[in-house]
Amino acid sequence: MSPSSASLSALYRDHLEVLQQRAAVALQRGGYDHLLIAAGKTKYQFLDDRPYPFAINPHFKAWVPLTEHAESWLAITPGQPPRLIYFQPDDYWHLPPAAPSGYWVEHLDVQVINQPEQAKALLPDPSRAAILGEPDAALPNVVPNNPDSVINYLHFHRAYKTPYEIALMAQASARAVTAHRAAEQAFRAGASELDIHRAYLAACQHNDLDLPYGNIVALNEHAAVLHYQYQQAEKPTQSRSFLIDAGAQVSGYAADITRTYGNGHALFEQLVAGVDRVQQDLASQVRHGKDYRQIHLDTHRQLADVLVDLGVLKGSAEAAVAERVTSTFFPHGVGHLIGLQVHDVAGFQRDEDGGRIERPDGHPFLRLTRPLASGMAVTIEPGIYFIPTLLSKLKASAAASMVDWQVVEHLLPFGGVRIEDDVVCTESEPLNLTREAFARL
Ligand code: GLY
Ligand code: MN
Ligand code: MN
Repeated sequence: MSPSSASLSALYRDHLEVLQQRAAVALQRGGYDHLLIAAGKTKYQFLDDRPYPFAINPHFKAWVPLTEHAESWLAITPGQPPRLIYFQPDDYWHLPPAAPSGYWVEHLDVQVINQPEQAKALLPDPSRAAILGEPDAALPNVVPNNPDSVINYLHFHRAYKTPYEIALMAQASARAVTAHRAAEQAFRAGASELDIHRAYLAACQHNDLDLPYGNIVALNEHAAVLHYQYQQAEKPTQSRSFLIDAGAQVSGYAADITRTYGNGHALFEQLVAGVDRVQQDLASQVRHGKDYRQIHLDTHRQLADVLVDLGVLKGSAEAAVAERVTSTFFPHGVGHLIGLQVHDVAGFQRDEDGGRIERPDGHPFLRLTRPLASGMAVTIEPGIYFIPTLLSKLKASAAASMVDWQVVEHLLPFGGVRIEDDVVCTESEPLNLTREAFARL
């Protein structure tokens, strides 16, 4: 699904309309006349002239498909087209942003500046404005105030994606899936983590900085490290298992996808198949009105069944859940909101005014507690891992007898399994962006 430029333009126009309406209500609630959004500034390493990777203000890229545009601004005044103040420096050390072009330009009032201070004269009265941005983005008398009343409203509604956003997220998923295919091939050929990572980047035409998060490229025991942050250059003597958690982005929208592969070892292949079955069942539960916390709790129940079936756990699945033994093997949440940020904002927010919906007791890493609603995009990412530090705590506990430690020993060298899809909640059947891309590509 790759919308033509014409249809993307129409989707973008409708998206802007939704954002305009949200902004108007947010401003009214906060008692402001204008919404000003600073893209942000390039930051430099301490005592050095090397910049950190630039991360644009997510509020900025919600309005325009621009991600590399430090020092630019947006000014939104209800009833007027959004004004984009587009910074295009005269710079011969770096490549400046190209002149604004694309499907989105005609919908905005675009003003080009070549000095950051020129933005000030093109912004409306800052004393009547909600100004969203980091403190260092301030201009004289234009100081970010980030009012809660405005931000809470915008963050709460950002969970509900527009069709334009879903189209871009579908493109991001397709981009990532093409690269997942290349990574699997590299794994099957016995490549090192670093070479698999390179194959991934080449296939999705990203460099490391383009990725929405650092790739997790984990062979063998490394698959047990939830956020494994290295890519080993040496080839392993044996490639028993491969867990890859890797995304891609399109116009600032993220994909977040995990796949795990075995290498013919029967028990591990069964484990992968078991987690995959659970994952698909959980993804089918992404329905309007569903309490996401229930999906998380159901994940524990279903993974307990897999662990009992495989002989990792003795006794009943119910007892394993009741004794919290499943938390050793599945020590993270089942997923999160996704969109402009991989872990998108407002996963706990009760309503437009803020507030908080608590996690269930005993589940400290769940990132989403809001009830699902049409338009929300979430990940569904169950996993079963063999994590030495957690296993040794379990072994020292009263629940140790619920585990067949020989089977655990047998599976330790494989690290673990995670399967993760990006799923959109609709009025009816969920739209699984990831499976849809894997089916097509
Ligand atoms: N890639 C990080 C996560 O799955 O949440
Ligand atoms: Mn995720
Ligand atoms: Mn992930």
